[in-house]
Amino acid sequence: MEPLLRMMSIRKRFPGVQALDDAGLEVLPGEIHALLGENGAGKSTLIKILAGAQQPDSGTIEFAGQNVVMLSPHDAQRRGIATIYQEFTLAPNMTIAENVFIGREPGTGFFVDWGKMAAETKAITQRLGLQMQPMAAVRNLSVAEQQMVEIARALSMKSRLIVMDEPTSALSLSEVDKLFRIARELKAQGLSIIFVTHRLEEVMEICDRYTVLRDGRLMGSGSISEITIDGIIRLMVGRQVKALFAHRDREIAGDVVLKVEGLNRRGNTQDQNATVLADVGFEVRAGEILGVAGLVGAGRTEMARALFGADAFDSGRIIIDGQEVHIRSPKDAIGHGIGLVPEDRKQQALFLALAVRVNLSMASHKRILRWGVFIDETAERTMVEEYRKKLNIRMASQDQLIANLSGGNQQKVTLARWLALRPKVLIVDEPTRGIDIVAKVEVHNLLFEMAQSGIAVVAISSELPEVLAISDRIITMREGRVTGQIKREDATEEILMSMMTLSVKPT
Ligand SMILES: Nc1ncnc2c1ncn2[C@@H]1O[C@H](COP(=O)(O)OP(=O)(O)OP(=O)(O)O)[C@@H](O)[C@H]1O
Ligand SMILES: [Mg+2]
Repeated sequence: MEPLLRMMSIRKRFPGVQALDDAGLEVLPGEIHALLGENGAGKSTLIKILAGAQQPDSGTIEFAGQNVVMLSPHDAQRRGIATIYQEFTLAPNMTIAENVFIGREPGTGFFVDWGKMAAETKAITQRLGLQMQPMAAVRNLSVAEQQMVEIARALSMKSRLIVMDEPTSALSLSEVDKLFRIARELKAQGLSIIFVTHRLEEVMEICDRYTVLRDGRLMGSGSISEITIDGIIRLMVGRQVKALFAHRDREIAGDVVLKVEGLNRRGNTQDQNATVLADVGFEVRAGEILGVAGLVGAGRTEMARALFGADAFDSGRIIIDGQEVHIRSPKDAIGHGIGLVPEDRKQQALFLALAVRVNLSMASHKRILRWGVFIDETAERTMVEEYRKKLNIRMASQDQLIANLSGGNQQKVTLARWLALRPKVLIVDEPTRGIDIVAKVEVHNLLFEMAQSGIAVVAISSELPEVLAISDRIITMREGRVTGQIKREDATEEILMSMMTLSVKPT
């Protein structure tokens, strides 16, 4: 079969990095193709070149049997290539319909035909099996819903190839199922999909063929049915790596460091009466890793944000080392020794216009101050270098703008920021989202190390194998409540699943 897309000998250099060096990609009509590689391997760069968002230094692109040059995103869209980026590009203050038709609003002259736009949006979303109000603002949608809007936009452009850069990393399990159902349907309709992900089980489940990049080079491609996960990892990293997360059983003898009692919060941006947190209580000991499992929307992130002072709560007690503390801001929380690695690192955590070094060290100034006043730049650079090595962060230099790092490497920098702070209580929200499989194991090891040094760790994760690997004890949440607690050795994915979906009667 003639490929729909053939990219050959693509090269692209950025200051200090050869992002792509003889990269290639072939996609057949009507297939789901996995584009794989470690953080910084060049996946997003290759996709941006395909989408016309960046120009290659050299190389050729053939699409639908023609040699093409994608001079602009518009160019690529016109040819039938739609790209859903790692960072969403929707306009939050516009409606769903406006976002679907952005730049191509139907109507004559200055007049937008709202009725037509709404009706077509409705039709497309229904084709995707979605219930959506075309006139609702995108701002109020969940990440999963925003992604569906991006897919709707791709369909409305009559695309032949849809590129999704890490579409599932922010989705819940049921949302992933829904996305896969849609992907299969699009495939059945003859569309091709390029799928970038770090979750290799997903690749085995949904993809037909794969391409692996390493350091910007094409390392191999072929049929999914003819390769194993271990085989893919070997192509990705060039050596044998055990993909399995190993658990270590440990005796937790430390004192209770954090105790939370009766945490309540009502009301979110959409509904003043919504139960966000209801009587949440738990404790964590020094040296312990408490896993928090739950579906997206279960209140895990809200709980973390409340403890960190990022959101207010209505009632409840937070007790650190036996003393009740009052936390009204992240500054209070940090003062009491609580650190949070937030879930949405891009929005909440990175200062995109600043250097990697500053982003990494900003929470740990105590560690690198000279005479308590000046930042000791040598100490700072040493610390940044230590974490660059530990987490294998790929950057041209410490002074590089963080905006120019690959998505996964940006994640590692924020993670390192809080790891370097060495707080009493460290809350990590989806610590390995968007991080490649090798670095995941490194992050797990770092969390173990931190726990071992006496820190109480609260680890929120939607990936059950991860929860089972890193936790000593696990609590599950649903609809703002804690629905159960279990020791790691008694838990399995099935048990956690049923605990997560269990309703508890309000008491
Ligand atoms: N605008 C830019 N300026 C400088 N360097 C860049 C820029 N964009 C990407 N890079 C560098 O190019 C390399 C490849 O990055 P890319 O984003 O393509 O990786 P990726 O495979 O998508 O990784 P991830 O899995 O982390 O998303 C990285 O070293 C990155 O730092
Ligand atoms: Mg990327």
